[in-house]
Amino acid sequence: MSLNIVILAAGQGKRMYSACPKALHPLAGKPLLQHVLETARQLHPARLAVVYGHGGDAVRQAFPEDDILWALQSEQLGTGHALAQALPLLDAALPTLVLYGDVPLVEQATLERLLRQSGEDMGLLTVNLDQPQGYGRVVRDEQGGVRGIVEEKDASATEREITEINTGIMLLPKNVLGEWLAGLNNENAQGEYYLTDVVARAVADGVRVHTAHPAAAWEVEGVNNKLQLAALERVYQYQLAEALLLLGVHLADPARIDIRGRLTCGREVSIDVGCVFSGEVRLEEDVEVGPYCVIRNARIAAGARLAAFTHIDGAQVGANSVVGPYARLRPGAELAAGAHVGNFVEIKNSRIGVDSKANHLAYIGDAEVGARVNIGAGVITCNYDGANKFKTVIEDDVFVGSDSQLIAPVRVGKGATIGAGATLTRDAPADALVVSRARQNVIAGWKRPVKKPAE
Ligand code: UD1
Ligand code: CA
Repeated sequence: MSLNIVILAAGQGKRMYSACPKALHPLAGKPLLQHVLETARQLHPARLAVVYGHGGDAVRQAFPEDDILWALQSEQLGTGHALAQALPLLDAALPTLVLYGDVPLVEQATLERLLRQSGEDMGLLTVNLDQPQGYGRVVRDEQGGVRGIVEEKDASATEREITEINTGIMLLPKNVLGEWLAGLNNENAQGEYYLTDVVARAVADGVRVHTAHPAAAWEVEGVNNKLQLAALERVYQYQLAEALLLLGVHLADPARIDIRGRLTCGREVSIDVGCVFSGEVRLEEDVEVGPYCVIRNARIAAGARLAAFTHIDGAQVGANSVVGPYARLRPGAELAAGAHVGNFVEIKNSRIGVDSKANHLAYIGDAEVGARVNIGAGVITCNYDGANKFKTVIEDDVFVGSDSQLIAPVRVGKGATIGAGATLTRDAPADALVVSRARQNVIAGWKRPVKKPAE
């Protein structure tokens, strides 16, 4: 679109009481500013500028994309002063849309409505609030035309009763911005250069001021403290949950799911309470996710069942597999169809073949496990010698007895059986039984020592 967009994000965020700049506080796992940037990009602006200041370098480094033009505001002298810092980066012959870095949830459709309704004139995004305290109020004349915006601290008692508030988001017409910003002064209660004063200037210059409204008030709610951040997080999560429900996903409770990234689901998926999804997660059809699973960057194939407290990160689960409760799949774990991974089993950078099972208390790292393998309780692939990692290969139809250690690099041939308690330091041949434990001694009639009586 032929449009400049400027995001004001230099504010200090004092009330967050945090060393992290406000723009970088996460909402749904993503910095506040990123939400605004993504919405801005949907409008395809000709120029996209961010005014930054507080926490400057950290903010810039968090957004290395080269479509962003950065304007430094080293002293926070007000929203008008902030916008003026971006002026040299803008195309004066285009209108300018102003967004706030701490108003993360405004929707594309709302901004498009503001642009449509404003045309070549000025546009303000406003909303009526039952509790307008703290916001700038929209002052209108008897005919209902906008006259200006008055900040709460500068407002008279009657002006404070106005319930229509300035969201801060506004569209400024082309070719006037430089002059309007140069005309601002800081003679007001806060000693700041208020961007909102350009509205009265527009009226004085005979420029029409249109207003548009968001579909819901939460779209324009700002984040000034952690309470507001937490409230917006819930609003946002509920939107995501609602969208899943409307697509037919069964959620045990839409108020108890957290999605910090993108979750896509096939048909007949069900998700119990307390699960956290982050990054890109795909649940194919008929997948069942038990309570309190944490799943990140994963693909769970059709019909798989994840029992309670399963932890998956950077892994793939094959069709109809059963995982958990309390299983941990780390990056590079790939389960083929029908695999079973039970409680307290950790798998890292390993492929587990079709219908193989590791049901209790095992560590499988840097391994290649074939089909129909049974890995007993307490089995450990010793993949690390303190300096380097080595690979374990377990071929098809192997049975590894409980409490065995496989010291990598090592290979267990097809169909081999490893007796319980083995420490495997050399390859096991196919179809063999390998036992490596001390023979059992029997001492009949053994008398246990008895405690001496006290003196
Ligand atoms: C501003 C509006 C007010 C509106 C409210 C909506 C002005 C004068 N007032 O008030 O009418 O109802 O937002 O939330 O504009 N910022 C800078 N540099 C500065 C000051 C602010 O970049 O020097 C940025 C902040 O990072 C923030 C935004 O501008 O993203 C708004 O600043 P804030 O101080 O929160 O403005 P309010 O006083 O809330
Ligand atoms: Ca604010």
